[in-house]
Amino acid sequence: MSQPQQIQALEALRDWWAEMGVEADEAEIRALTKAARANAAPEDAASPARRPRTIPREKRHEDWVEEARNLSRAAASFSDLKSAIEGFDGCLLKEAARHAACFDGVEGAPVMVIGEGPGAEEDKQGLPFVGRAGQLLDRMLGAIGLSRATNVFITNVNYWRPPGNRNPSDEELALCRPFVDRMIEIGQPKLIIAAGGVSAKSLLQASIGIMKLRGTEQKLETPGGYSAPLFPIFHPAFLLRRPEEKSRAWRDLLQIQERFEALS
Ligand code: URA
Repeated sequence: MSQPQQIQALEALRDWWAEMGVEADEAEIRALTKAARANAAPEDAASPARRPRTIPREKRHEDWVEEARNLSRAAASFSDLKSAIEGFDGCLLKEAARHAACFDGVEGAPVMVIGEGPGAEEDKQGLPFVGRAGQLLDRMLGAIGLSRATNVFITNVNYWRPPGNRNPSDEELALCRPFVDRMIEIGQPKLIIAAGGVSAKSLLQASIGIMKLRGTEQKLETPGGYSAPLFPIFHPAFLLRRPEEKSRAWRDLLQIQERFEALS
């Protein structure tokens, strides 16, 4: 097997484990990948997509957050923001990720869905909510007349896949937050849906969990002064594991539909 094939096989193995719910040892995978790259023949090493990416660590966390704020402020459009996120080196998750999953759907749509972060399929495609949970999300939105093809914009509170699909840490969320806020300011959605506890708690800086937050209307205000009603809902991945919660999720969707109609 050539070195690039070995690296691809390692990445495929990691994704397979993640799909099966097995926590891969990321440090081990990284060490094996690094060793394969170090041994690569010159022609193998030529592919830019396969070159090792090492993020410089000379800055402190607060400096990276400040840099994220500056980059976000300078962005005037979604495509500016996408370039800024993809070029941002402050989040270590980027080292192991294949792509940043920035956003999908209609730019400037009246409804914005914000999830917690990419999984294996999102990492592969560089788009949010394109795996099994994303398919369920599409069906949930479709049931109340919403879709990413016509009236929904979809993003996450974190853009790079955490190893083994763990939750993003507070530091990782803080690094992405300026981009999330700016996305809201540029898109000016009439209504925001926070998919899952990680997203809802982080967006609202709340200490209570999704069990208490779901079914309530909250308000999100960005540093730039844009505000919109925010509705926390169960994450579709949670509903795949706990289908008995779908009746509560349905009630929440109907509440969102009613509020959205009132705003339209
Ligand atoms: N779960 C999320 O919260 N976001 C995605 O993009 C995919 C799965």
